[in-house]
Amino acid sequence: MGRDKLSQIISLCRRRGFIFGSSELYGGLSSFWDYGPLGARIKKKIKDIWWERYVLRRQDIVGLDSAIIMPRDVFIASGHLEGFVDYLIECPQCKRRFRLDKIDKLSDKEYLCPDCKISIDIRKNKPKKFNLMLKTNVSASEDYPQEAYLRPETAQGIFTNFANVINVTHKKLPFGIAQIGKAFRNEVTTGSFIFRMKEFDQMEIEYFVKPQDADKYYECWVNERYNFYVEMMGIKKENLRVRQHSKEELAHYARACADIEYNFPFGWSELEGIANRGDYDLRRHSEISKKDLSYFDEKINERFFPYVIEPSSGVDRTFFALICDAYFEEEVRGRKRVVLRLKPELAPYKIAVFPLLKNNSKIVELAKKIFYDIKNKIPAIYDDSAAIGKLYRRQDEIGTPFCITVDVDSLSDKKVTLRERDTMKQERIDIENILHILLRKLIKE
Ligand code: GAP
Repeated sequence: MGRDKLSQIISLCRRRGFIFGSSELYGGLSSFWDYGPLGARIKKKIKDIWWERYVLRRQDIVGLDSAIIMPRDVFIASGHLEGFVDYLIECPQCKRRFRLDKIDKLSDKEYLCPDCKISIDIRKNKPKKFNLMLKTNVSASEDYPQEAYLRPETAQGIFTNFANVINVTHKKLPFGIAQIGKAFRNEVTTGSFIFRMKEFDQMEIEYFVKPQDADKYYECWVNERYNFYVEMMGIKKENLRVRQHSKEELAHYARACADIEYNFPFGWSELEGIANRGDYDLRRHSEISKKDLSYFDEKINERFFPYVIEPSSGVDRTFFALICDAYFEEEVRGRKRVVLRLKPELAPYKIAVFPLLKNNSKIVELAKKIFYDIKNKIPAIYDDSAAIGKLYRRQDEIGTPFCITVDVDSLSDKKVTLRERDTMKQERIDIENILHILLRKLIKE
């Protein structure tokens, strides 16, 4: 059932232009994906909502947009060059490489190849370290390459700018620096659509606090971020849960970590991680850069390294969870209806306008006029490329909350039909009050 739902969702995303395989024209590049016209709208909206809630509306958080490519020393300091690795084992028969933690153990020395099912003796086929960072050369000469890396998390640009931000904003603890941007990882285990990509977008906040306040703010952020998914993204509570990491699971920098998980069609999986990174990062960057990144607290006349609470969310996984949560199939008069019950704020279009008869120039003219009046206030779309039933089904599939149909009667009674996506209820409303009625309904939804 779960896997069926996954293939239906993938098919919808392709069919309606939410997501395309990247570079398909040239055979594609595995684990890279492109957002189509509708996907790009939703993705942008997710980022805008997050940015508005944390950067524009809060006094204690400022924004940043730092470079993607950073020098080697940054990742020596962050620990990524040493610790951001998977252990891979190669099957002597099929020659495929698998992550050690993802394959079944037969005994301490033997593992089962997930593909050809032979046993692999790890004394002869020793697991090899594989670093997940993507390396590049930023020198103008190939003879003297200058090694640099595509960041595996947006966080490091925040730490390297910590002193710059304090100098210009004069922020006092607690305060946060937020960033939205691309991150890159040469992931070994991929698949499951956009769940694990090699290029993806993160929305991260590094929230700097006094060490003694770290536990309190860690809890606050776990609650805040859980509520964000429920209230702002409209995700159902029964499909969300918080899972605390065990000590063995913690990343090299973390003192505590909780995942917010979503019940994807393939099972509960991480949507976001909230970590208490302690003073690991500022301390390490001070050591390696030889520049002091400690904080001076004027009240107590002391210097110390602040602790960092980090809510780190994936834009693509949020998008994926939204679509899974909103996707419904139902039978209407003996036919299957696919409907995306997105929160109206996140829907690519809020309103669709159709003429009932596309060959009647008066109806088309009126429909276009209504569309032009609406579109500057509310994201709307005009469509007359199919019969009305088909037009409704298209809009249901992309989550448009309301459709307006202009018919022959509209020319005389100055009313149009307003159809609601979830209930499919229709009502006649006055053209004169259309904008007012739509805005009221959209706010109420
Ligand atoms: N700065 C901390 C950090 O990067 P993470 O748990 O590795 O922590 C945070 O990543 C979030 O970024 C994840 O919860 C997920 O939403 C997203 N993410 C991580 N790797 C991803 C990948 N390969 N593809 C898509 N999203 C990913």
